Amino acid sequence: MGNQNLIWHPTVVSKLDRHRLNNHKSCVIWFTGFSGSGKSTIANELDAQLYLLGIRSYLLDGDNVRHGLNKDLGFSSEDRHENIRRIGEVAKLFVLSGQIVMTAFISPFKQDREQIRNLFEEGEYIEVFINCPFEICEHRDPKGLYKKARNGEIQDFTGIDSPYEPPNNPELIINTDQFTVKEAVEVILEYLRGRGIL
Ligand code: ADX
Repeated sequence: MGNQNLIWHPTVVSKLDRHRLNNHKSCVIWFTGFSGSGKSTIANELDAQLYLLGIRSYLLDGDNVRHGLNKDLGFSSEDRHENIRRIGEVAKLFVLSGQIVMTAFISPFKQDREQIRNLFEEGEYIEVFINCPFEICEHRDPKGLYKKARNGEIQDFTGIDSPYEPPNNPELIINTDQFTVKEAVEVILEYLRGRGIL
């Protein structure tokens, strides 16, 4: 499908130049997990901590991105593939721009996430599985959507009548019943320090 007459234009300022300017490396921190598992909450707190540390970061959040860039997409498998594909491409641009980008999307399909991983250089894609038992997510039901899905008012709801494929080898697993939000953020910051990203 790609247009063969398009040629990628190398930029004068490289990613490495931007890393030097920022004094840190860039990467994508890809959160995955059920709706209500805590992806956005943890990602937002991480973003806040990175800001305080003087790190250039940005959060792409499922519900927000679906208000704009992806407002033409619903929740069929095809639309979810396209949702994740676009976010992957946007995340790639952020990484090229020298920033740490966090993405908080259910991203239920393993193959979609692996495709995103392949867009990046070794070590740039950090998958964080927010592992919260489904029953707890449903019980929390922060947006009242699980209830609607159970009543048949919403179709294709992840965990109810649409699948979620947990990662086999994520870089990090956060078991939300074992960590507070602040502790989860500290685990991720430690990982970033350990890999020389911060
Ligand atoms: S994804 O599967 O394509 O990655 P995404 O993270 O963008 O999903 O959007 C999920 C959010 O949309 C949920 O947190 C929830 O608020 C809302 N939502 C609305 N309908 C559905 C649905 N059928 N399944 C899952 N989430 C839904």
